[in-house]
Amino acid sequence: MAIERTFSMIKPDATKRNLTGAITKKLEEAGLSVVASKRIMMTKAQAESFYGVHKERPFFNDLVAFMTSGPTVVQVLEGENAVLKNREVMGATNPANAEPGTIRAEFAESIEANSVHGSDAPETAAEEIAFWFGGNEIVG
Ligand code: RTP
Ligand code: MG
Repeated sequence: MAIERTFSMIKPDATKRNLTGAITKKLEEAGLSVVASKRIMMTKAQAESFYGVHKERPFFNDLVAFMTSGPTVVQVLEGENAVLKNREVMGATNPANAEPGTIRAEFAESIEANSVHGSDAPETAAEEIAFWFGGNEIVG
């Protein structure tokens, strides 16, 4: 297995409840290292662009409103099989379906306010990392 990088976000429902450290601890315990991290207030234009793949979905406007409702922590995670490992530790999109012990099972409030984002494939990880970070902001 190769060392890989993935992109992660701690969403506004979680930052508002002061869960940045608790969620990062879960990621680190899963063997992922935080090699870049910054707390941002996402603009509407950034949210619409980042989630552009979902723009025809009925939940798109609500999702953009949610992601601009409070601070988000954007991160780059590094480790063996990082994309898949992060998806595993996140748990299912809907917390009602998330495995016990996962971030979403423990912390998410709803299918929308589900505390974290993680890239779904190595290709999207590379795009999403480049969307939020310049190369000199990532220190492995
Ligand atoms: P993410 O992209 O945030 O890591 O989550 P995901 O892959 O598990 O879920 P995805 O299908 O990509 O959906 C992106 C985000 O949109 C919100 N959502 N709301 N109301 C709804 O039915 C609904 N479905 C999805 C969630 O915040 C989800 O994470
Ligand atoms: Mg997704």
